[in-house]
Amino acid sequence: MRLSKGVKLQTTDGQVDTLVVENDLAMARISLFGGHVLSYIPHSDARDRLWMSGNAILDGSKAIRGGIPICWPWFGDHPSGNFPAHGYVRTQQWQVVGCEDQSIGTIVKLKPESALGAGLDGELDLLLTITVGEVLTLELTTTNIGANALAFGAALHSYFDIEDIGLTELRGLNGEFLDKTESYASKVTPEVYLFQKETDNVHLSPVTHTVIHTPKFDVDVESMGHDSIVVWNPWIEKSTAMADMKDDSYRSMLCVEAAITQGKTLAAGEQHSLIQTIQ
Ligand code: BG6
Repeated sequence: MRLSKGVKLQTTDGQVDTLVVENDLAMARISLFGGHVLSYIPHSDARDRLWMSGNAILDGSKAIRGGIPICWPWFGDHPSGNFPAHGYVRTQQWQVVGCEDQSIGTIVKLKPESALGAGLDGELDLLLTITVGEVLTLELTTTNIGANALAFGAALHSYFDIEDIGLTELRGLNGEFLDKTESYASKVTPEVYLFQKETDNVHLSPVTHTVIHTPKFDVDVESMGHDSIVVWNPWIEKSTAMADMKDDSYRSMLCVEAAITQGKTLAAGEQHSLIQTIQ
């Protein structure tokens, strides 16, 4: 079913419903399960910027491993209770609330069926605006529609396709970070940021521009409205333990996430946008 000139809804039995977006500049696939971008391929070089696990579960029974999961309204473990890691909207059905074909690209607006869920102690509204053009832009807008101030967390948990983690360098970050693999030990970002082991780093960083540098290409990632950039690669033991990752697939992916890990408090009626652009 066509929703606009550039957007087609694709349904397949037993698989998540998907929007196929295609215009003069790029194509993208977006799963309505999770409001989850699965792929983004600019026509300029026909290379998918996003990584998708060969073992990803695409029947809507589990969060999808790869692409851009939306973590909300908390990042990682819930701050106080026993609720699903990274919140509940990545495993929820989302609805299309707008599609526009413009000269900068196709703009798709999505909302989860309900932004309210167990573990959220208040009332927030959520809107995801995805622009598929020469650049991919995700804007996650949170509004406090309740009567009291409320804190939330979030991440645009992007998985990038990088060919070989051993030949990949992350540029742009500096200062201290917290190493989750060593109980949040505080460390200094190396001058040359390479990957030789499991990496789960929270950079409490105001840096907006990062570059994933590989021998064959660079990927430019801009973040806004974040308090952290999270850098994650599970390495071999964890990918072997994860049913939705192939044993060696950690070699071809790197997550660079625009995140709110510290909790962002919104006053009643206040709105916040977390943005990531990918080129
Ligand atoms: C990262 C976290 O953002 O996501 C990691 O920092 C976590 O600690 C990773 O392991 C993947 O999370 P999940 O829930 O998708 O397996």
